[in-house]
Amino acid sequence: MVYRVGLLGLGTVGTGVVEILQRPPHPLLQAVEIAAVGVRSLDKPRLVPIPPECLTTNLEGIVSDPEIDAVIELMGGLEPARSLILKAIDHGKPVITANKAVIARYGEEIFQAAAQARVAVLLEAAVGGGIPVIQALQQSLRASRIQAVWGIINGTTNFILSQMAQEGSSFAEALAQAQAHGYAEADPSADVEGWDAADKIAILASLAFGVSVPRQAIPCEGIGSISSTDIRYAREWGYTFKLLAIAQRAEGQGGEPTLDIRVHPALLPVTHPLANIHGVDNAVWVQGDPLGQVVLSGPGAGRGPTASAVVGDLLILLAHLQTGAQLPNPLWGFAASPPVASLLPLAEAQSEFYVRVLAQDRPGVMGAIGTCFGRHGVSLESITQKECHQELAEIVILTHSVREADCRQALAEIQQLPQVAEIPSLFRVLR
Ligand SMILES: NC(=O)c1ccc[n+]([C@@H]2O[C@H](COP(=O)([O-])OP(=O)(O)OC[C@H]3O[C@@H](n4cnc5c(N)ncnc54)[C@H](OP(=O)(O)O)[C@@H]3O)[C@@H](O)[C@H]2O)c1
Repeated sequence: MVYRVGLLGLGTVGTGVVEILQRPPHPLLQAVEIAAVGVRSLDKPRLVPIPPECLTTNLEGIVSDPEIDAVIELMGGLEPARSLILKAIDHGKPVITANKAVIARYGEEIFQAAAQARVAVLLEAAVGGGIPVIQALQQSLRASRIQAVWGIINGTTNFILSQMAQEGSSFAEALAQAQAHGYAEADPSADVEGWDAADKIAILASLAFGVSVPRQAIPCEGIGSISSTDIRYAREWGYTFKLLAIAQRAEGQGGEPTLDIRVHPALLPVTHPLANIHGVDNAVWVQGDPLGQVVLSGPGAGRGPTASAVVGDLLILLAHLQTGAQLPNPLWGFAASPPVASLLPLAEAQSEFYVRVLAQDRPGVMGAIGTCFGRHGVSLESITQKECHQELAEIVILTHSVREADCRQALAEIQQLPQVAEIPSLFRVLR
């Protein structure tokens, strides 16, 4: 048997896939032939040898070619990736994709089309690079009722925060280093603003809770406001900063369960399993019943790890060819129309908070601040005066677990106190 695949994209991941397939590590892969590779430019030098007749800029031709058995989409972006995936499905071809942006936004449309055409769409490489988190949530952990999935699922921001913590770099310096290493794009917004992590947690939440997640409704905060001062104070208290993508069950008002899904930087105790994931590594922490806690960690991106996940999906396709059974879609099993998740508004979420206030160094300031918190039912774990800068004292507060809206109302009042100059930092503390 020859199994002919069409590759859309021969960049970082596409090159890695060709490298693996040129030296197949599993006998099933010996049947695979790369029949066509779709790219933007035919003149670009390539890192892997591809016969010139296989390279094409006609990607529509690949997805509709009756001679091609499966399509691997590794081009990225929303369009034309979405349309090409749909067209491949329409032509009865299974699709493997690493494209989290497309799946997070158009997953429902794509999986409905795939269910109708009775073809598989596999996406292990879309979240966590080489970490087999999709298969784990889809199969191995399915016997448990998942309560929470927390992830460090953006390598660029984890690299930046690790540099800031370990080398004392500022955010701008650490970002420049990430760009010099090729970890961050020239426009780093999708990473540093948390949008990439939000795409990925939308996918993980769909898997873990069997729902469709409205991606645009996920609250998302980036890491640009974390200063070296905050990192230093957090460390003194035994915390480290991480950009966390969170999906967990919340108290609902009946009907479908309400999910608390969000992306933001947070202080984690250094003893937390996610606190020791450094550099570009990723990790996903899953808590379930009766499972308990599981952490999956490893290289979250890069040519080899991501290509390994893509080819792993190809092996799944090949194994199923032999049985002829229909593969369930990875997000919702055989259900074509999952319920849409109802998301907890961020204002209702419960967290502990770290707050840094700049105020005049006068008697009574701490009392006034404490009174404002008290008026809104926010109890404090500690309130400490730190350094003084030009007659302004830095006051750092850790709250107990409170409703976010209550904390923000108290802070709005504190901001109005005549002694208070500024509230430069407000971060959630998770444990
Ligand atoms: N890089 C990673 O570590 C990583 C990790 C996990 C997931 N992913 C995902 O994997 C996918 C691919 O990422 P990548 O880093 O390999 O991207 P990349 O290096 O930018 O490569 C993209 C490839 O797609 C081709 N391409 C893009 N748009 C095209 C268009 N409109 N028409 C024809 N060809 C087009 C490009 O052609 P040319 O070569 O001619 O320009 C290039 O070969 C993305 O969805 C990404 O999010 C990447």
